[in-house]
Amino acid sequence: MSSSAVLPDGPSAPPVVQTAELTARPVDFVERCRDRFGGTFSVRLSRIGPMVFFSDPESIKQVFASDRENTITQGRNVVLEPILGTKSLLVQEGAEHLARRRLMLPPFHGERMRAYEQSIERATVEEISNWPTGETILSHPAMQRITLEVIMSAVFGVSDERHDPLRAGLNRVLSSTRSPFAFGLTFPLLRKLPPYSGMLKSLRETDRLIAAEISDRRADPTTEEREDILSMLVSARDEDGQGLDDTELRDQLMTLLLAGHETTATALAWCFDQLLRNPDAYERLRAEIDSDGGGDWMEAVIAETLRVRPVVPMIGRELRKPMTLDGWDLESGTSVMLSIYLAHTRPEVFPDPYVFDPSRFDGVKPDTYSWIPFGGGTRRCIGAAFAQFEMRIVLRTILSTLDLAPGSDSPDQMIRRNVTLSPKHGSPVIVTERRAAA
Ligand code: HEM
Repeated sequence: MSSSAVLPDGPSAPPVVQTAELTARPVDFVERCRDRFGGTFSVRLSRIGPMVFFSDPESIKQVFASDRENTITQGRNVVLEPILGTKSLLVQEGAEHLARRRLMLPPFHGERMRAYEQSIERATVEEISNWPTGETILSHPAMQRITLEVIMSAVFGVSDERHDPLRAGLNRVLSSTRSPFAFGLTFPLLRKLPPYSGMLKSLRETDRLIAAEISDRRADPTTEEREDILSMLVSARDEDGQGLDDTELRDQLMTLLLAGHETTATALAWCFDQLLRNPDAYERLRAEIDSDGGGDWMEAVIAETLRVRPVVPMIGRELRKPMTLDGWDLESGTSVMLSIYLAHTRPEVFPDPYVFDPSRFDGVKPDTYSWIPFGGGTRRCIGAAFAQFEMRIVLRTILSTLDLAPGSDSPDQMIRRNVTLSPKHGSPVIVTERRAAA
């Protein structure tokens, strides 16, 4: 982008300060910008340059609609790229990206997705059987244990003791991505020093275990009949009859394991944090689960959780053609950031935006361009339906078995962990009563 481009106003602090603020306190920072400059503003970031933030439904709609021809996600997940690999769906672009999306979407929809119900239920029952009555449980790590089991069994078919080393390796990789130091991975020179050298060593060990799974599956004559995601990707062929090579298989599996596990666990932890402080919403959900296992109100609770606590607070695009958004003429090459958090807290769209109130979505489908926890356009989260399905089964299983109360006096604080907004204190809950044998 040329330096003469006229961009919306924004903070005047040096780029290094703005970068630090956006990284350390992404919610406070964008709220302060919105208070001062309105919903559309520019920030200036080290190594990236100017970035224009939007949060109005019309601009969001335009960006998503132009995804196929006009945007790339250059620089997306720079932090995660050394872990995900260059062939990850998250970083692929253009025709290659669309072809892979087509290949990878089916297991996350319809009947294929519903086949995971039992493994979700099993993982939840197993987890909550260890929750003692009267004690405080940190729901965030507990939900991470459940969602890791679930995504491992979706990806590898079964998740049994044979997978213990892989589970342990993934846990090490995942905890390193949650570390506040993870961003250092983006500097190649730092990768040779601790803690990065340790992170990369765990990663290489886990890669070897994944490679062993891939070669087992390639050698297995029943692979074509199997329904797990690894088998499906091993058997898949593109229009030219080409399959995925081992490097790409590894990158796509790592992407699903990472993208599918932490996000859903965090959303569930936020759900407990918000729901348990709202006795009416909580009791109504309990009653609905007792009567039919959970329906419209459950969906409303999940939608409202993802609105008020969007796990991923913002998504970026880079324009490949000039575009006018919210009255601003932007040049090709402009970095555009859609703030999910600001879009979800617009009082004209969501009155009393900071109040957790599932009745906003009671029997009402969230709007595609105002409620965007899963992004949109050609990059919309491929696990959106799966994540909401998993949340429903986990909530149903827990709330039909246990009575819960908040484990702290005030709502948990939002802090940034890598690309997610996480509950700072792990969203504690207390089991007040066990209703039935888990
Ligand atoms: C509550 C849980 C989740 C949230 C909030 C979430 C959110 C998101 C967001 C915001 C994006 C970027 C969309 C964009 O740029 O427009 C995304 C992309 C993605 N998500 Fe999720 N996600 C969740 C669960 C999952 C699950 C369960 C999986 C897979 C098992 C998954 C796999 C992916 C993948 C592969 C992409 C990249 C899609 C692409 O670039 O084409 N996510 N997710």
